[in-house]
Amino acid sequence: MLTQNLSDFWDNLYSEGKDYWNFKKSTPALLKFFEHPSCPKSGSVLVPGAGFGYDAEAWAKKGHPVLAVDFSPTAVDELDSLIRKHSNLKSLDLDLFELSPHDEKKGGEQFDIIYEYGTFSAIHPGRRDEYFEVWHKMLKDDGIVIALFYPLMSGDTFKGPPHSTTEGELMARLSGVFDLVEKIPAQESFPNRENKEEFWILKKST
Ligand SMILES: C[S@@+](CC[C@H](N)C(=O)[O-])C[C@H]1O[C@@H](n2cnc3c(N)ncnc32)[C@H](O)[C@@H]1O
Repeated sequence: MLTQNLSDFWDNLYSEGKDYWNFKKSTPALLKFFEHPSCPKSGSVLVPGAGFGYDAEAWAKKGHPVLAVDFSPTAVDELDSLIRKHSNLKSLDLDLFELSPHDEKKGGEQFDIIYEYGTFSAIHPGRRDEYFEVWHKMLKDDGIVIALFYPLMSGDTFKGPPHSTTEGELMARLSGVFDLVEKIPAQESFPNRENKEEFWILKKST
């Protein structure tokens, strides 16, 4: 049986047109966030689970060097067509759990910013701590995670993807790994996501 830990699971959803999360445009809430005073003006950006890359492209258009990672061949094809348009956007076909700052073929560096949307809720909840460890190793010590957590609501976590989360779960899992710097309400959410998502700015715990 295919599980969401395998690229085929995601690739089948893309090829069967069941990619209901894919709005085929940059996330309006991210574009709005770009206007927020807490949004960094510069710095390299890692986008794990970038999908078709519209948000990665938005960061690139804002002037950041961006690495977009996905392991679905369909998504990577889309990313590869985007990188031809932007010299500061790169794609990487890789299982994000294999990212390494020490291996050129697996990221090869630490980043100023990690941008998260839709990947945390896509991976199996049993791998959430592992996912935070990926952020931790790929982030510079003075870097920040910008996570638009969705669905941020109580409910059946295991029915997804998307798997929901709660503030309590996040605070418990992040404790000692990342500190919460700021929570920023999402504006201009996609339909049906209003009041179920929020930007969290995180930095490494010291
Ligand atoms: C629900 S989609 C969200 C895509 C994008 N972030 C967005 O908001 O449109 C989840 C994406 O994460 C990718 N993904 C899931 N698990 C992954 C893994 N372990 N390594 C790399 N990509 C992964 C899937 O292929 C898919 O493109």
